[in-house]
Amino acid sequence: MCGIVGYVGPRPVADVLLDGLERLEYRGYDSAGLALGRSGALGVFKTDGRLRDLREMVDASGANVGAGHTRWATHGRPSILNAHPHLDCHGQVAVVHNGIIENYVQLREELTDQGHRFLSETDTEVIPHLVEEYYQGDLPEAVARALQDVQGSLAIVVLHAEHPDMLVVARRDSPLIIGLGQGENYVASDIPALLPYTRDVHVMENGEMAVLTQEGVKLTDWSGREIKMNPYRVNWDPAQAEKEGYEHFMLKEIHEQPRAIEDTLKGKIKGSQVVFDSLDLPVDRFNKIVILGCGTAWHAGLMGRKYIEALAKIPVEVDIASEFRYRDPMVDEGTLTIVISQSGETADTLGAMREAQRRGSRILAITNVVGSTVSREADDVIYTRAGPEIAVASTKAYMTQLVCLLLLALYLAQRRGAVDEGAAAEVLDALRGLPDQVREALKTNGKVEDLAQRLQKEQHVFFIGRGLDYPLAMEAALKLKEVSYIHAQPYPAGEMKHGTLALVVEGLPIVAIATQSALREKMLNNIKEVKARGADVVVIAPEGDDLDEVGEAVHIPRTMDLLMPLLSAVPCQLLAYHTARIKGCDVDKPRNLAKSVTVE
Ligand code: AGP
Repeated sequence: MCGIVGYVGPRPVADVLLDGLERLEYRGYDSAGLALGRSGALGVFKTDGRLRDLREMVDASGANVGAGHTRWATHGRPSILNAHPHLDCHGQVAVVHNGIIENYVQLREELTDQGHRFLSETDTEVIPHLVEEYYQGDLPEAVARALQDVQGSLAIVVLHAEHPDMLVVARRDSPLIIGLGQGENYVASDIPALLPYTRDVHVMENGEMAVLTQEGVKLTDWSGREIKMNPYRVNWDPAQAEKEGYEHFMLKEIHEQPRAIEDTLKGKIKGSQVVFDSLDLPVDRFNKIVILGCGTAWHAGLMGRKYIEALAKIPVEVDIASEFRYRDPMVDEGTLTIVISQSGETADTLGAMREAQRRGSRILAITNVVGSTVSREADDVIYTRAGPEIAVASTKAYMTQLVCLLLLALYLAQRRGAVDEGAAAEVLDALRGLPDQVREALKTNGKVEDLAQRLQKEQHVFFIGRGLDYPLAMEAALKLKEVSYIHAQPYPAGEMKHGTLALVVEGLPIVAIATQSALREKMLNNIKEVKARGADVVVIAPEGDDLDEVGEAVHIPRTMDLLMPLLSAVPCQLLAYHTARIKGCDVDKPRNLAKSVTVE
């Protein structure tokens, strides 16, 4: 989850590193540091603050190689001593690392017995000491030997004072991407750091290491055997990773949703059929579908279940990835496992995917990142075309995951003959109209901002809904908690009277999502139940549905019930955003969180 950037070349090294780190700050932001290679000595700068503090302290002179890091603490609290880069005893070797060294306690004891001195509480610090131990003038050789000793996940960049022209990088289970330039080369833990400089990348595989110099990249395995690089060109537009005038990435990404939906739909509807390039699922083989994901991706999966069951008539289970693999899941060759992950690097999701794979299940991934681990290990992939999502709180990725799930449900339904032409055409028409309706839903912004003014003083908020509105309520509550730190709880509206109603007191704010026509009357009764106990209700409802008698209404465009959650998601996202902004929270980088969670 930490951000890593490395550069070798003629540009001002510190500027490239700091710029890249800024683009990766969403991966972790507890502390930051960088190492610059100059002849004979390394310059190392660290802060337990943010990057702007680092920028002020760096002396950039004379370097043409360097590596930087933003940290999301796992071993050891955020502090200058624990910030990366970590050094060997003599300040000759510098290492930045993402991942967890599982056997670091034992290695640290052994190295201490051999006379090495440790300064930090981190697992990472064993790496520079191991490199120091093995170094006899050949840095790649020393790194390769050190790698044989460490267990666990790692993406590392190593510098040595005697090699101010070289970076040695390696990967196992934590992402690392080499950016290829002319007379310069880059490495980073995520693509957005590279976009302003190059779009030609090689995504490193597990067990690969590389030596980067200005002249080129030599890729090998950990025993030094040369491997051919497999570069490809990233099709993300560099501007997509900029704020482009918006105050925050989260707001920009909410507004990008119409475009993201259009891009995701492109090429997937031909006439009256849903088609996915290079996807040819033996649909009749599957008697069950399992959907796996974490956080927002799990919430998308809960919606996906309803889509698939409603349209394709296949039973679906949805599991939180971190729970799935430890419960001896009933998955086999007859199961299609759908793995949802924006980043494609979430450790819990990867673990669950591999468990399902081990049990013989075919894996279909829905991910946003081409070349991510999930995309490479799955049997089949559907890409959301959301573009880079920078804000920690997921918005446009969630929206495009729902679009893909709906398309997939229809694809399965059409292949199984479970849906008639008229019903399929209705869904496809609604999908085609969705981008414009999302544009309309964005116009709720002013009204939602007023609501946020009221909400920002609250400590507890409930979100209630029935049917498809319930998984949306879960996502809406997560969004509010994540960015505004207000305790938000989702409930199936019909379940309140079985316990939760006891929590409703005078003035409790409740957001009621009431978009499902078949459940409208039941939902109204549930709203009346909480109103009668003093709750302050705001209702999200389709235009034309006059619900003033039960609460203040936020109206969104009307579409078929199946697609209503994609429209009600918009005011919910805006509500979370504005509440956090008004409260003065760090919207794009909420406390304790990181965008891509690569540890279990
Ligand atoms: C969403 O706002 C969260 N930041 C988080 O729940 C996220 O969706 C989760 O960590 C899964 O990430 P992934 O989609 O990259 O696997």
